[in-house]
Amino acid sequence: MKKRDKRDFINKSMTKLEPMSGEPWVKLANGSELADWGKDHEISYNQMNRQMEKALFYRRAFDFLKSNEILGDYHEYGCHRGRTFRMALTEARRQNMSEMRFYAFDSFVGLPTTGAAEKKEWFEGALLTSENDFIGMVREHGIYVDRIEIVRGYYKDVLNKELRSQFEEIGIKVALATIDCDLYESAVPVFEFIEPLLQEGAILYIDDFFAGYRGSPLRGVSRAFLEFQSRSRWKFARHLDVGWWGRSYITYSGEGILPDDF
Ligand SMILES: C[S@@+](CC[C@H](N)C(=O)[O-])C[C@H]1O[C@@H](n2cnc3c(N)ncnc32)[C@H](O)[C@@H]1O
Repeated sequence: MKKRDKRDFINKSMTKLEPMSGEPWVKLANGSELADWGKDHEISYNQMNRQMEKALFYRRAFDFLKSNEILGDYHEYGCHRGRTFRMALTEARRQNMSEMRFYAFDSFVGLPTTGAAEKKEWFEGALLTSENDFIGMVREHGIYVDRIEIVRGYYKDVLNKELRSQFEEIGIKVALATIDCDLYESAVPVFEFIEPLLQEGAILYIDDFFAGYRGSPLRGVSRAFLEFQSRSRWKFARHLDVGWWGRSYITYSGEGILPDDF
């Protein structure tokens, strides 16, 4: 199959779930359609399905922000190929959020030393996109380009008191923060840094809630979030599920007790 045909084949038959009026009630690819199915198909299939779910999340999240009049900036911790960053730019533009600034926090040299990481893809230097490549991609995207700010470096170094003071001086809070940095060690300084920049109604999107560590919420980025949640002055209401891997939370404050399973 030619490359283009392969892409069309995956596009048409694989990513959309379609109902059927008889058993098994949903259209499923059969053996002959999957006869040539290989690793490339698998990767494209998973990427398309995942990115579509993320794009839907961003559409919903920005609609939430607009409807609830939550003003503030977009922070992304873990930018890599700018997929989610571009989703944020597009949805911000759709909601005419012309005041929002877009902060891209990344080492731009890939993952740091990975202490307890369990996924073979998470080695030092993995998921590398250079700063130039990232800037090229978001420039080419062509939305709110003049309001994109890059913060380059490992979080443990750059998310320091000086940088936080600069943000506090500007006085603009976070409306939506995406935490997509895979590792516990990476996420700990992010939550620490962001706490004073949050506001009621801010969304935290945690991409790797169930990714790696056999999905255990007691490890990785989810562990960092749960620890942060227990000591933070903010409360976080569970909001949207994003695919099998991610979750968003809404920041709130005040008295009152929510049921445990809220
Ligand atoms: C899964 S990728 C992000 C994917 C991205 N959101 C996208 O949609 O294309 C993880 C990114 O986190 C960055 N990263 C992870 N730990 C980091 C750390 N401690 N300091 C700086 N960047 C880090 C990596 O460099 C990588 O670009």
